[in-house]
Amino acid sequence: MNRIISKTRFSEKVFKFEIEAPLIAKARKAGHFVIVRVGEKGERMPLTIAGADPAKGTITLVVQEVGLSSTRLCHLNEGDYITDVVGPLGKATHIEKFGTVVCAGGGVGVAPMLPIIEALKAAGNRVISVLAGRSKELIILEDEVRKSSDEVIIMTDDGSYGRKGLVTEGIESVIQREKVDKCFAIGPAVMMKFCCLLTKKYGIPTDVSLNTIMVDGTGMCGACRISVGGKTRFVCVDGPEFDGHQVDFDEMLKRMGAFKKEETEEMQRFSQ
Ligand code: FES
Repeated sequence: MNRIISKTRFSEKVFKFEIEAPLIAKARKAGHFVIVRVGEKGERMPLTIAGADPAKGTITLVVQEVGLSSTRLCHLNEGDYITDVVGPLGKATHIEKFGTVVCAGGGVGVAPMLPIIEALKAAGNRVISVLAGRSKELIILEDEVRKSSDEVIIMTDDGSYGRKGLVTEGIESVIQREKVDKCFAIGPAVMMKFCCLLTKKYGIPTDVSLNTIMVDGTGMCGACRISVGGKTRFVCVDGPEFDGHQVDFDEMLKRMGAFKKEETEEMQRFSQ
């Protein structure tokens, strides 16, 4: 059981939780994730760690209400307990001095991007962060991202904040202006797919962080299976980060939609 120390609302459906997990806080690195379960029979939900305070023994998770499990978690409050939090899982982000790096975060994807931005800056990179969301209220962690970025470009679909347009337009404006050595993209699968198509055109190596369905998180069940460069990989043990130019996003999107019907039925039952 892990206690929720604080809960902050970012927007109508996006919350930041600070959770007591001293061992995870000590061991985690950028890129690591945890698997969270709410209730004994709860679904296991992978969430990338957005930050940690080893002195306080806490980790930070940013959660968006999208399905039943994330909604259950978002209904918990400060002082409540999460049934279990397992981690840190996965491989840490490969950080080095690349040169100029563009970090593109879409929606809640900015949360797992934050520790990567911080680590890239600490390694001496010039970091240009592109934060994107449908509207102003969906741009999160801007101040934290600014602290470790040389420049921040905000893109909103409706133009309510920053520039009007898609995340890819923000990335391309940088590429056309200066030499970019590396790109990281984290957000919805469709967003990462289009970021990768763009950077492939310009020959810029791009890492993505995938958030597939997961069950055991140990490479045994196969739920998180994806194809990378024609080979089968497991997001939980081989990832969550991969060379985005090699990921078969179309197959991944199809697998992620496999339980849509069941999810909708469960949600209806939950809200009755
Ligand atoms: Fe089971 Fe990855 S979650 S193999």
